[in-house]
Amino acid sequence: SSRLTTETFGRHIRYFDEVDSTNNTANALVKEGGVEGTLIIAEKQTAGRGRMGRQWHSPKGKGLWMSLILKPRIPLHFTPHLTLLVAVALCRTIRQLTQLPAGIKWPNDLLIDGKKISGILLESSAEEEKLHHVIAGVGISVNLQAEDYPEEIRGIATSLAIEAGKEVNRSELLVHFLQELESLYKVYHEQGFAPIKLLWEALSVSLNKAVRTQSPQGLKEGFAVGIDDSGALIVRQEDGSLTKWYSGNIEFGAS
Ligand code: BTN
Repeated sequence: SSRLTTETFGRHIRYFDEVDSTNNTANALVKEGGVEGTLIIAEKQTAGRGRMGRQWHSPKGKGLWMSLILKPRIPLHFTPHLTLLVAVALCRTIRQLTQLPAGIKWPNDLLIDGKKISGILLESSAEEEKLHHVIAGVGISVNLQAEDYPEEIRGIATSLAIEAGKEVNRSELLVHFLQELESLYKVYHEQGFAPIKLLWEALSVSLNKAVRTQSPQGLKEGFAVGIDDSGALIVRQEDGSLTKWYSGNIEFGAS
């Protein structure tokens, strides 16, 4: 059903026609006492932000461009868990609602047939090494058509509508997502990362594949074998040794 039955997520909603970035709005709101679960959502972002300084294309009315205020009761160094948790919630939502074969590319990109459908940008704030809050920014390309994308990303980006061949109801998607996210968030606080890790692995399209990434030390490559208890990607290198990648952007295939 599309009635929101969550306890906290989405119980406070700030809705805007246009903002620069919902993550910025959320951050400002926290400072004014915004509570956990507050949802900031906009029809359009004029300066949507992606990971690693990239832009996030957010045209009016075509997607879900939103941020959620979280105040998780976890140590600061556990925040990567939330990145994976949000991806799991979103992937499960898309699969259930559209039956489309969405998968997670480490750490938290959502792909359908190798094309990006959604992006997640978590920003955490700490005070004296103690986690204060996390802004979970989520962008879902719901009803964009090919011509809505800038030329450069047309080949690598897609939308639910393009993949499903019909428009997808945004409010239904939003309600499902908030419910899925709240329930996984509870599981995580009660049982830790282990159950989230299992779900992530089952939905991952990154494992058992040749992967590479650009690092400050140059190109790194290997074979992705799993994730560890912190959410890092475990990669087997050519000499058989295991290494861990903690962040960055991976590409598939050997160079
Ligand atoms: C990425 O894939 O690089 C992450 C993209 C995150 C986009 C969302 S849209 C809502 C929120 N506000 C932003 O400025 N970014 C996130």
